[in-house]
Amino acid sequence: MRQDHLDDFFTFLRFPSISTDDAYSEKLGECAHWLVEKLTRIGLEAQLVSTPGHPVVWAKNKHQPGRKTVMLYGHYDVQPPDPLDLWDSPPFDPVLKNGFVFARGATDNKGQVLAHILGIEETMAEKGDLPVNLHLIVEGEEEIGSGNLPGFLKENRDSLGCDVAVVSDTGMIARGVPTLSYGLRGVTALEIKISGAKMDLHSGVFGGAVANPVTALAQLLASLHDKNGRVAIDDFYDKVKPLEEWEREAWRKLPIDGDKEILAETGAPGLFGEQGFSTLERLWARPTAEINGIGGGYQGKGTKTVIASHAMAKITFRLVPNQDGDEILKLAHKHLEKHLPPGVRMEITDGHSGPWYLTDPHSSFGEAAQHALKEAFGKAPALIREGGSIPIVSQFRDILGVETLLLGLALPDCRAHSPNENFPVENLEAGVKMNKAILQGLAS
Ligand code: BES
Ligand code: ZN
Repeated sequence: MRQDHLDDFFTFLRFPSISTDDAYSEKLGECAHWLVEKLTRIGLEAQLVSTPGHPVVWAKNKHQPGRKTVMLYGHYDVQPPDPLDLWDSPPFDPVLKNGFVFARGATDNKGQVLAHILGIEETMAEKGDLPVNLHLIVEGEEEIGSGNLPGFLKENRDSLGCDVAVVSDTGMIARGVPTLSYGLRGVTALEIKISGAKMDLHSGVFGGAVANPVTALAQLLASLHDKNGRVAIDDFYDKVKPLEEWEREAWRKLPIDGDKEILAETGAPGLFGEQGFSTLERLWARPTAEINGIGGGYQGKGTKTVIASHAMAKITFRLVPNQDGDEILKLAHKHLEKHLPPGVRMEITDGHSGPWYLTDPHSSFGEAAQHALKEAFGKAPALIREGGSIPIVSQFRDILGVETLLLGLALPDCRAHSPNENFPVENLEAGVKMNKAILQGLAS
């Protein structure tokens, strides 16, 4: 790997661009600013566009009539690094170890964004120009639901006209196996607050006389699934598009053992989930309800005999074709209200949401993507769907009228969103090749 490429990577990773915490707003601004400078240096016209949240970086080459226009998209914001004590090295002080760069954002999404940038840089250096008209959009709010990006797309719809979008923010099924993802799950979130007494109570003096909000919350949350892991909300599965036999067959033939690998990657003692579906099917094509956080009551050392006045939980639903996020939230509200135990009050706050995405990997753009992956990795790509979500992808279709090619470079054990996130230098190198190939492949 060229030292200057690695230097760019390390500089990019040193910005603690944590979008969820306002305390880091200035750092996000600095990171965006660095990107604008880098993009200007490689010969693009780059600008910072402010939004009500974190700024969008927008870069273009000189557009010429008669050429295809390609939008590349990524994000410079990252998830919080917590818990810090589980990192082997500080999350914003990148280190290179055995060919892997360790830092928050190394995979999700700075390494993959840099692969776009370096692919553009090398093409411009070798050919003096790109073979296509380019828009590169790097946003700072993907990890918090891309709330301000649709506004940016709508405001600039005419200038942003393009033929296709390309995104590297998904995964590869295994090291060295290029992967084209043609589907993403959607996501929608809510937060529950259960309250009881106006203050924490002595559990001996009041226990037995009033309901305990933590117990009520536990009962309520337990009602979300049956014992086999199927979501127990009425009508939750009504709109789910059944998996087709060809797709099940194709996934069975992928060169991975989903069960073995998920067990090894996660260290979980066993697999668990909806019956009647393989692990990969449950991950890529079935919806879920997940409790992401729960709190309430005494968390300190030793015992405290108390009935907490409040308890809270954060929940997200992963959505699949053809579920609708607003409808799912309505069904969830109805379920929670129906199953709320007596003696407590409940407040539900809806959070961010993003729709699922499904496209055709065999369209002419899809074929071009498969070809570019083959060129970069020397093998035909695996065609898969993904369990994660990239909220803006469905908006590219709705607002700009274009399909998105998802050419991910994240390895299954990259630890995105976890401590010790990492990205292999070999994927940065392959990613640069892949970007050069896709720009060329989409030109004709
Ligand atoms: N890169 C991920 C999405 C992803 C991960 C897609 C793995 C496919 C495979 C992205 O940065 C992400 O984490 N998205 C969030 C979106 C949410 C915060 C709205 C997600 O999926 O939780
Ligand atoms: Zn992420």
